[in-house]
Amino acid sequence: MALKQRILELLRSAGGDFVSGEQLSESLGVSRTAIWKHIRALREEGYVFEAVSHRGYRLEQEPNRLTAAALIANLRTNVLGRQLTLFDEVDSTQNVAHELVRQGAEEGTLIIAEQQTQGRGRQGRAWHSPKGKGIYMSLVLKPRIPLHFTPQLTLLVAVALCRTMSQYVGDRVGIKWPNDLLIEGRKVSGILLESRADDERLHYVVAGIGIGVNLTAEDYPPELHKVATSLRMETGVEIDRTAFICAFLAELEELYGLYHREGFAPIQALWEARSVSLGKRVTAVAATGTITGVAERIDDSGALMLRLDDGTVLPVYSGLLET
Ligand code: BTN
Repeated sequence: MALKQRILELLRSAGGDFVSGEQLSESLGVSRTAIWKHIRALREEGYVFEAVSHRGYRLEQEPNRLTAAALIANLRTNVLGRQLTLFDEVDSTQNVAHELVRQGAEEGTLIIAEQQTQGRGRQGRAWHSPKGKGIYMSLVLKPRIPLHFTPQLTLLVAVALCRTMSQYVGDRVGIKWPNDLLIEGRKVSGILLESRADDERLHYVVAGIGIGVNLTAEDYPPELHKVATSLRMETGVEIDRTAFICAFLAELEELYGLYHREGFAPIQALWEARSVSLGKRVTAVAATGTITGVAERIDDSGALMLRLDDGTVLPVYSGLLET
């Protein structure tokens, strides 16, 4: 067992009491400097220790960690998340998901990571993924739908996420077209849908979901301070990520079933009810160039319909420009 784990074991077995540096170094057969270095590394991973001279170290708090066992025990779904892989660190859960599909992964396969070194967002942006603070997950879906309906799935996932999040922050959370979840103007979550298809046949999609859960202001780089937020920053309490993931999967499975039974119309209505984009004047890139108009509704394919000043209504398929 690694030295860090052995230190943790000794401190845990002290049941909240102090263990001196000398005792630790003797029991583990290493120097006190080695103990101190490992304590420092554990602090960086989110462990909280009280250190008092002449008394030693006391384990105060362990990082809020995800475990496959707790996730499986709390799942309320039949399909989504039933095949689940949890990683400590990956480049991107999206890459792992695509690889698992190549190896035969089925619908509902879920990949979660505590940390991503190359988390990616839409339009080539990076997704800030600090260890143990957020939810970074990718879900494999294999819906039997025509290829051109694929964008509907982004909206479906956004509705499921918004409904889950409103259990924590009420109706302060809304959806900015197509896939950003905002709490009072600040982004708390984003969705990246990547699909593989040939000709007109959709093989599968990987729905990548990133959520700012327990990040504090210091966990964000300066350029995100004004534009990003987390559930913890909004509620003032640490959020149980296992409970959130399981609640989200249950919402999504229910909506996914509704979508297969009744089509996009009910999802469209739910999306519109939670949208913060509709009725707003926005600028976006359309097939004809950059256009500005009032966002009126979404159409059957998931496109945002803008009414321009001359009264024409045009669809927009990619993200809105910041104004
Ligand atoms: C966006 O708003 O631009 C979408 C962000 C999507 C981030 C998630 S985190 C889990 C999954 N893995 C990735 O690399 N990206 C998505």
